[in-house]
Amino acid sequence: MNITFNKENNTFKIDTENTSYIIGIVDEEAFIGHIYYGPKLDEVPLHLLRIDENPFVPSKNNRDRGSFMDTFPCEFPGNGLGDYREGAVEVIDCEGHSAVNFTYDDYKIIDGKTVINGLPQTFENEKSLDGKMGAKAKSLEIYASDKSLSLKAVLRYTVFEDSDALIRSVKIINDSQSSIYLTKVLSASFDMDSENYELLTLHGSWARERQIDVRPIGYGKTSVGSVKGESSHQEHPFMALLEKGATQEKGKVYGFNFIYSGNFLAQVEKSQFDSVRAVMGINPGGFKWELKKGESFEAPEVALVYSNEGLGKMSRTYHDLYRNHLIRSPYKDKERPILINNWEATYFDFNTEKLLDIAREAKKSGIEMLVMDDGWFGKRNDDNSSLGDWNVNEDKLKGGLKYLVDEVNKIGLKFGIWMEPEMISPDSDLYRAHPDWAIAIPGRVPTRSRNQYVLDLTRPEVLEHTWNSIKTVLESANIEYLKWDMNRQITDIGSAYLGKDNQGELCHRFALAVYELQERLVKTFPNLLLENCSGGGARFDPGMLYYGPQIWCSDDTDAIERLGIQEGTALIYPLSSIGAHVSDCPNHTVGRVTPFETRGHVALAGTFGYELDITKIPESDRQQIPEQTAMYHKYHSLVRSGDYYRIASYRENRFYDCYGVVSKDKSEALFTFVQVVGRPNYHSRLIRFAGLDPDAKYLIEGENEVLSGRTIMEAGIFVQNPWGDYKSKLIHFVRQQ
Ligand code: GLA
Repeated sequence: MNITFNKENNTFKIDTENTSYIIGIVDEEAFIGHIYYGPKLDEVPLHLLRIDENPFVPSKNNRDRGSFMDTFPCEFPGNGLGDYREGAVEVIDCEGHSAVNFTYDDYKIIDGKTVINGLPQTFENEKSLDGKMGAKAKSLEIYASDKSLSLKAVLRYTVFEDSDALIRSVKIINDSQSSIYLTKVLSASFDMDSENYELLTLHGSWARERQIDVRPIGYGKTSVGSVKGESSHQEHPFMALLEKGATQEKGKVYGFNFIYSGNFLAQVEKSQFDSVRAVMGINPGGFKWELKKGESFEAPEVALVYSNEGLGKMSRTYHDLYRNHLIRSPYKDKERPILINNWEATYFDFNTEKLLDIAREAKKSGIEMLVMDDGWFGKRNDDNSSLGDWNVNEDKLKGGLKYLVDEVNKIGLKFGIWMEPEMISPDSDLYRAHPDWAIAIPGRVPTRSRNQYVLDLTRPEVLEHTWNSIKTVLESANIEYLKWDMNRQITDIGSAYLGKDNQGELCHRFALAVYELQERLVKTFPNLLLENCSGGGARFDPGMLYYGPQIWCSDDTDAIERLGIQEGTALIYPLSSIGAHVSDCPNHTVGRVTPFETRGHVALAGTFGYELDITKIPESDRQQIPEQTAMYHKYHSLVRSGDYYRIASYRENRFYDCYGVVSKDKSEALFTFVQVVGRPNYHSRLIRFAGLDPDAKYLIEGENEVLSGRTIMEAGIFVQNPWGDYKSKLIHFVRQQ
């Protein structure tokens, strides 16, 4: 890791162990140009800026300035001055004009990393996953300005000693005498020559999140985004540019992941000259932020990862980056308790006795925590009321919350609880007292979704009230886990608190308010295990991982549906962050019946837990739980800290799935094989595994066979196809001394 400035040719070179990112300052006007991002170089390819070719730089050929502007690979492109490709920033100045262009002033190279106020962010870490000390950071800040507007920008870049990722973000400062409205501030823009790259994005729906989609990059703009006030089920704040034909092991891949949980835009644009501009940031749709004189605006971070060894290496780089430099929770490196959640067991129909019955039975099977889901507060017996009334419903929970928690603790289980703090039901005491606390536009009947509204957390008194509600609940009993849900998206963008010129700030301010509440939560309750959730996995993003180490991945708990959902999620996020439970069959979402064993194997590639009525499931299933909980204890540290390898995808081959984790020291590996659809006259499948030490010998547990890592990876081994559909098996390799 290093960052250098070359005075001779005015270039910055940011190096990680295997990559270089190079920026150049060009011409008398000091344009900031992007030169190169890719495998590590030992010199600066200045010729890539083509400043000696047509069109000339403005100082030599101002006649064709427009052509220069529209072709120059600008590091942070502005708006309205000749670059017609997507800009990264747009304004409305005090005269109503929207042009802006930042040029270079100065720079600073920093040991470490500047802290960004109020946003989730990567940080330096003394110790990385493999125990290496000193995973330090180095940062570059480029100071730029638009002199006509007296607007300044700080372009920030950070790299870490133990990572090939590059973190970018931007800060805008108003040095003028009046307000300037920011109508677009993207966090990163990246120009490159097109090599026929393809675009990989993740799309989805409720119960079908993060499905991998790959398409060619055509001329014009192709984007994914959200204006829903959260990162969303439908599209994901991630994109990757792939060399055509890139696989898990081979090919160039550029990944972009936005460390943010609100509205986003991720876009590529292929220009008339076949260059590609990729941009990522807060979605400009509906965004308008007043930057008063002297104020600054911080845009969230983007994590860029370049891999020249295909998607697999990109995934492993993201996993390590997030485990080492983003997730803060003490649970990051700890075994998480195996929980049982009562949502699919009872939905709203439960009481103290029912929960204690579940707890007693769960204890017998090695389960360690009971989580009480939705329906314990106000008068909530379905999803039509009571959000905001965070007082326990004593008709259901006789004796109150503390009594229940104490009884659960006596049984020997920890206790966790569900809340949806950002919401308000029209049928709630809170709404009756404060109808103006809901996000709404005066004179327009607000859109209900799941019969609820979103609280206007931009209002300080609403934020304080919400914080007090959360704190009061958590302090009222020995609660060791919180499932923080968000079950609807934002509509009717209107805040009774914000002025008429500031309504365009609502969505970002809402995201900042959620971050403020979660920051208070992790500071006040440092040992609480926080699992974020949003109607399943609609807010599964790196922003939320800064606060909680795990996120409920999807409301679809069917083992087969989960293969695709977890594949897309694990493309970026470590398995230790993926909320995954064993549920009952027929599955409540798709009606499929799968073996209990397969449900356990699939949930093992996540946080692992149960979501079923353990007092009612078939005896044959219940009998398997002690074995499954023991399996979790055996493999959890490997799953939590190992390197992830995807071997085969049911999504592509329509027959089977295979993936696994290899410990950092390569002493053991666990692969999961799922035979999704049986195939006649096809008794075994040759699998070439990955990630092992080629020179070491490995025992294939249960087979009593020892083979070298090289043989297992290059020649492969035959995995017997289990008899029937939806069957799975684990393959455990243990290195021999
Ligand atoms: C969301 C969550 C579920 C459950 C319900 C409760 O849909 O994803 O797991 O908590 O809310 O209403």
